[in-house]
Amino acid sequence: MADDHRIVSGSAEDNDETVVEKSLRPQKLSQYIGQDQLKHELSIYIQAARQRAESLDHVLLYGPPGLGKTTLAMIIAREMGVNIKTTSGPAIEKPGDLVALLNELRPGDVLFIDEIHRLPKVVEEMLYSAMEDFYIDIVVGQGPTAHPVHFPLPPFTLIGATTRAGNLAAPLRDRFGIVEHMNYYQVADLQEIVKRTADIFHTTIQEQAAHEIARRSRGTPRIANRILKRVRDFAQVSGRSAIELPIVAHALELLKVDDMGLDETDKKLLTTMIEIYNGGPVGLNTIAANIGEESETIESMYEPYLLQIGFLKRTARGRTVTNKAYEHFNLKSVD
Ligand SMILES: Nc1ncnc2c1ncn2[C@@H]1O[C@H](COP(=O)(O)OP(=O)(O)O)[C@@H](O)[C@H]1O
Ligand SMILES: [Mg+2]
Repeated sequence: MADDHRIVSGSAEDNDETVVEKSLRPQKLSQYIGQDQLKHELSIYIQAARQRAESLDHVLLYGPPGLGKTTLAMIIAREMGVNIKTTSGPAIEKPGDLVALLNELRPGDVLFIDEIHRLPKVVEEMLYSAMEDFYIDIVVGQGPTAHPVHFPLPPFTLIGATTRAGNLAAPLRDRFGIVEHMNYYQVADLQEIVKRTADIFHTTIQEQAAHEIARRSRGTPRIANRILKRVRDFAQVSGRSAIELPIVAHALELLKVDDMGLDETDKKLLTTMIEIYNGGPVGLNTIAANIGEESETIESMYEPYLLQIGFLKRTARGRTVTNKAYEHFNLKSVD
């Protein structure tokens, strides 16, 4: 998927975008927009840990891509006044990689593991004692000289992020003291995020235009920022000094983002289910094969939003399309 620049996608797609995302990341909890309940809870846990001069409990953040998990991990470290080491599940291939990371931690530091559901099993099992009692047992040497070494660690905070909490083994999940589910953002919060980003870009944006971008961003800050970037290009090329509603509408039409914020893949997914499977129930793998996407991509990126807006339902026998979705596409349900 590296070559496609669709509006809905899991991560920052290229180096350019990674740089922009970095510059857009709020640095403090107070600058983090929305997710009020989550912020409130975290601020208490952080304050309490600081008062006791202890490391913060391990934190698991889960929810769809682009909602601010990585951003929050960085904010937590900053608010705790500690360093953060960042890695991801697939990057830690063998126990030695984890040992190397843990070895660099100083007391109280944060180790952030993105996509923690993709850790190899042997590495995951090593994390259990590291998280619970701050030690690891490693085997040093080979053959007859091999011997176990008990390796104590400084107290540290593991922050794990995942789009798929259901894929975490229970023993790992249970070792996180703080487990937070990230929700899609309210339009009002996304509107604030759009305005904040526009400010950082030194771009003027009309309130209504910011609202329209927010409304069509699938509740996701990353998508809101991405749309704003494109809209800003359109405004600039057409010689406008400010981003106004018509240019947003025009840009979104060209980007094939519909009135509900759905993109081509959402549309293909739903209309395929309707036209070929009579609205379902259809199994996830069948849908994936039909539209040429990975099941995992559908499950973590597309489906959660379609479930949230009530266009899809999950039943024991598979996914079904709701009447609301039929109406959106002006199609008639046969039953
Ligand atoms: N609450 C928020 N307030 C402001 N910007 C946010 C917020 N949440 C996310 N963003 C922005 O959205 C983008 C994606 O966030 P990120 O933390 O990378 O998401 P995730 O790790 O969940 O995929 C970043 O550019 C970030 O600055
Ligand atoms: Mg992330």
